[in-house]
Amino acid sequence: MQRIFINKISEYVNQEVTVKGWLYNIRSSGKIMFPEIRDGSGIIPGVVVKSAVSEKIWEDFSKLTQESSIIVKGTVSKHPKKENVYELQISDLEILQIAEPYPISLKDHGPEFLMEKRHLWMRSPNQASILRIRNEIIQSIREYMYNNGFILFDTPIFTPNACEGTSTLFETEYFKLGKAYLSQSGQLYAEAGAFALGKVYTLGPTFRAENSMTRRHLTEFWMMEPEMAFYDIEDNMDLIEDFLEYVVQRVLINCKSELEQIGRDISKLQNVKKPFPRITYDEAVEILRKKDIALIRKTESGEEEIKPFPWGEDFGAPHEEAIVESYDKPVMVHRWPAEAKSFYMKRDPANPKIALGVDVLAPEGFGEIIGGSQREDDFDELKKRIIEHKLPLEEFQWYLDLRRYGSVPHSGFGLGIERMVNWICNLDNIREAIPFARRPNRITP
Ligand code: 4AD
Ligand code: MG
Repeated sequence: MQRIFINKISEYVNQEVTVKGWLYNIRSSGKIMFPEIRDGSGIIPGVVVKSAVSEKIWEDFSKLTQESSIIVKGTVSKHPKKENVYELQISDLEILQIAEPYPISLKDHGPEFLMEKRHLWMRSPNQASILRIRNEIIQSIREYMYNNGFILFDTPIFTPNACEGTSTLFETEYFKLGKAYLSQSGQLYAEAGAFALGKVYTLGPTFRAENSMTRRHLTEFWMMEPEMAFYDIEDNMDLIEDFLEYVVQRVLINCKSELEQIGRDISKLQNVKKPFPRITYDEAVEILRKKDIALIRKTESGEEEIKPFPWGEDFGAPHEEAIVESYDKPVMVHRWPAEAKSFYMKRDPANPKIALGVDVLAPEGFGEIIGGSQREDDFDELKKRIIEHKLPLEEFQWYLDLRRYGSVPHSGFGLGIERMVNWICNLDNIREAIPFARRPNRITP
């Protein structure tokens, strides 16, 4: 008898099949039992009729506990009333293991308890759907990149230098060579790749020692970073737009049932079609001032200081939310105060106080999902920046080589995979966007 997967069940109506999986739930009404069986690809309601099975099978079913592992045989039938719902009329049961009392019942649990049991929690329909959507997002990214001539370019995790500021580096001993740091971003290496291969992208884990417990920060997160030779900031924004539209629209098609399972209102995502609004940092600050969104921060003496949003500051969550409020698409904020941004960004030829950076803010208040820029391609300027940022010049000699030997205008960006999952799935907290989240207060399971 053919072993099939539940997500393909509609292809087997009226056929006898085998399903291998786990008991999700079971109800009984005396002479009929209704086990729900999950196999990783989905959940199917089963029907066991006492008079139609042996006594042993009936008794075995009554022994089953939540998450017991089982193999069942049965005939697939269409639900008598519901469209697109199928059932399994069960004829046989093999028990692999009767599960111990399962710690996660079908009622609600607190988030910290669920994170402690993350290795089990991910079996639940919502969590499994989120992880499938994550898979589809990454698959779409890879396909977009492949189909558009980008070469996958894997960058190292152990690095001798910082890319995104020295305050968030994770340090480790590296044999006789002294300290190594876990990569904050593959960008600097991807730049070398772009000069060798034209258009490249890197997709891998990155690390930031940010000791804050926000709903959007992980200490270990995955980032996709394309880097393109001969692209300026406008080309970069054209790419971002085209890329994001492709990924979101494809997820909507291929993850329909998962989005439905988690209750996502997809009308907002259907709107993610280019062109996206492009506003300068200055225009974004104008929006904040008009809306009276202040900057609140702690002074050195620990007091709260509230003032109208000053030019030059980076945006926090409330600012990002206020900026996107008037738009129903991702918003590209470009041309930032150079002070607020990384050392490698090229200055605007029209104004040296401005860096040619672009952040993409997701709609519905999900905040920054992409950070990118045109890179400084002038040797002297870049060297000056490295020194100004007090970075070890020696470790950046290879990076400066890219400006010594055939420098060209080039650009790229970084998309945080979990930020993207967070937005697409409308999650309360980024910890559900990755199988095992790493945050300052958690390294287990
Ligand atoms: O804006 P960031 O710091 O940019 C870079 O790292 C550049 N080197 C990228 C590039 O141009 N190649 O980070 C890029 C994105 C952010 O927009 C956000 O989506 C995500 O990475 N990100 C985080 N996601 C989860 N937790 C954190 N602590 C994150 N920090 C950044
Ligand atoms: Mg950023």
